Amino acid sequence: MHLGVIGYGNITRALLGVLAREGKMPARVTLLVRPSQAGAAAESGASVVTEATALMAAGPDLIVECAGHSAVAEAVVPALGAGIECVVVSIGALADAALHADVTAAAKKGGSRVVLPAGAIGGVDLLAALKPSGIEAVTYVSRKPPLAWRGTPAEALLDLPALTEPTTFFTGNAREAALAYPKNANVAATLALAGLGFEATRVEMVADPGVSQNIHEYRVTSGAADYAMRIEGKPSPDNPKTSLATVYSVAREVMNRMTEVAI
Ligand SMILES: NC(=O)c1ccc[n+]([C@@H]2O[C@H](COP(=O)([O-])OP(=O)(O)OC[C@H]3O[C@@H](n4cnc5c(N)ncnc54)[C@H](O)[C@@H]3O)[C@@H](O)[C@H]2O)c1
Repeated sequence: MHLGVIGYGNITRALLGVLAREGKMPARVTLLVRPSQAGAAAESGASVVTEATALMAAGPDLIVECAGHSAVAEAVVPALGAGIECVVVSIGALADAALHADVTAAAKKGGSRVVLPAGAIGGVDLLAALKPSGIEAVTYVSRKPPLAWRGTPAEALLDLPALTEPTTFFTGNAREAALAYPKNANVAATLALAGLGFEATRVEMVADPGVSQNIHEYRVTSGAADYAMRIEGKPSPDNPKTSLATVYSVAREVMNRMTEVAI
């Protein structure tokens, strides 16, 4: 397998580590990185390119985007149009309706598809499967330690270091959540795309001094099953904003394409 990866940040480095440890490193890996990261990326032993056109010219069987919202427009859309299947981790980017339409059109044109991994959460298979049964409600609560909300609009709403009780500072739909809190949009967008869409998926954000991890809780009611999930994500050592589970979710997508029994 020839794997293309966009980005050389926390997820990519950890992903390559998991694949190596599992003995599932693809025969060939090409990394599309920012020019400033080309040197560091080359030390991984993979081929390195700095232009989206060069990644496509290399002809990977699968591309995994682990970079950021801009990479979806710059590199995923053309790759899909060229017929290459893409796994997109920056799922919050698809809250942008125009970009979502471009992704869909490119996949259609190229006869390819975009795969959205479960990322930081689980149970997305069940939510997506339940869709035809009629989903009545999806409510997601993102609960993080107060200081994990630094650098977001929550800073202007709350005195984060002084909080002594769990405080809900955002209630709205997944579209509003993704637009106001783009760095925290991935899980809300994943649930929206799997289930009721951006307008009808309810989101709450809580600064909670009683927790030390990034906690994702969601509840689904539908025609065929009701369920609730709580995932206590352990932060990645290199980027505490990214749950380690995301890395393993992406690794699963790659390894499932290199095995006889995919699960
Ligand atoms: N789906 C989920 O549940 C989930 C969970 C966590 C993170 N994410 C998303 O995954 C992405 C990567 O996360 P991370 O922790 O590795 O971030 P990171 O900041 O550690 O690394 C991202 C790297 O990609 C590079 N990059 C950005 N745009 C690029 C482009 N157009 N071309 C090439 N390189 C580019 C950056 O320079 C950076 O080095 C982020 O968008 C994040 O929001 C998704």
